[in-house]
Amino acid sequence: FFRVMFPHGEFGWIITRYEDAVQILKDPRFSKDMVRRYGADNQSIFSNNMLFSDPPDHKRLRGLVQKAFTPKLVADMRSHIQDIADELLDNLPSQEKMNLIDDFAFPLPIIVISEILGVPLEDRDKFRIWSNTIIDASIAESAELFEQHAKEFTDYLTAWFAKVRQDPGTDLISQLVIAEESGQQLTEQELLGVVSLLIIAGHETTVNLIGNGILALLEHPEQRELLINQPELIHNAIEEMLRYNGPVEFSTSRWALEDIEFRGQPIAQGDLVIVALDSANRDEQQFKDADIFDITREKSPHLAFGKGIHLCLGAPLARLEGEIAVSTLLNRFPNIQLQADVNELEWRPGMNVRGVKEIP
Ligand code: HEM
Repeated sequence: FFRVMFPHGEFGWIITRYEDAVQILKDPRFSKDMVRRYGADNQSIFSNNMLFSDPPDHKRLRGLVQKAFTPKLVADMRSHIQDIADELLDNLPSQEKMNLIDDFAFPLPIIVISEILGVPLEDRDKFRIWSNTIIDASIAESAELFEQHAKEFTDYLTAWFAKVRQDPGTDLISQLVIAEESGQQLTEQELLGVVSLLIIAGHETTVNLIGNGILALLEHPEQRELLINQPELIHNAIEEMLRYNGPVEFSTSRWALEDIEFRGQPIAQGDLVIVALDSANRDEQQFKDADIFDITREKSPHLAFGKGIHLCLGAPLARLEGEIAVSTLLNRFPNIQLQADVNELEWRPGMNVRGVKEIP
């Protein structure tokens, strides 16, 4: 791990080794509470949620949403997600050519999360633009553009909440609005924070599990053949895709609540700490032949979904979507080929999300 200066002149540490990463992600002396760090007035609404809070707020906020993402509830969605995958592949613009991201990897999780939340699917292009800008504020073309997209996004959601208050349904936003109205469990700002977190998480992550995962199979034809011949390896294959080319490159930041000695180094109170998840997942001290993509790898405790109390809430959903997407694509198009030089594919800029812009 090493010390760096972050863009706003704050000092911090980047953690790259697996063992260190696990320790930091589980250590309560590192806070995620940004109100406590910067004050309530300096908060973006996008940080008013469980991902940027500590217990007990974290437990309350996570508890309100967790019910919708239990492994059992998610497993019950299998046949519906399968229908969505089949329909997307039936309706490809051409059966000869596709852009794997735009035609399949992006719409699949978006349709699913829009249905869970209850937001209209026809607005998905707007959500994509907004969430792309917000996930990596540092690479928005300008601060004005970020402000503009953030405002459009929050105005949209505020109007949507008003509509839902009049006529709540059974979707997750309706349940959260009801919790907010009861006035005990959720403030208006937290409602906005939680819903925007779910929309952004739903738009920016699973698309890259599917994209990076298929790309790894296209780059390793022997692994693809293995998976086609032994479809029961799909669970292992998804875990290996998450380890080998995880969609979330760096964790969000934590900060030291006190002076901490970590592996003989002093981390000062207030220092930021960020875990390089994809680096930890290639740590050769933890994973044998870490740079080799091997879908038969067993017991792979990768950190693609993080660790500790902030472990990804959407993991069961993302795994199921990844499984169905990859299996269905290989069933339908066992001879699928990459129509580009892999070295010329354009990766998305920024530090947070790791994914390719287009896969022809
Ligand atoms: C948290 C990765 C999909 C919702 C996280 C974290 C990671 C992660 C690494 C923890 C970040 C940290 O500790 O700094 C992923 C990956 C996904 C994925 C790789 C897809 C392959 C999803 C989906 C949803 C979701 C589909 C829901 C719609 C969340 C939420 C948290 C979270 C709500 C915050 C949990 C907490 O703070 O307690 N995710 N995510 N994620 N993720 Fe995901």
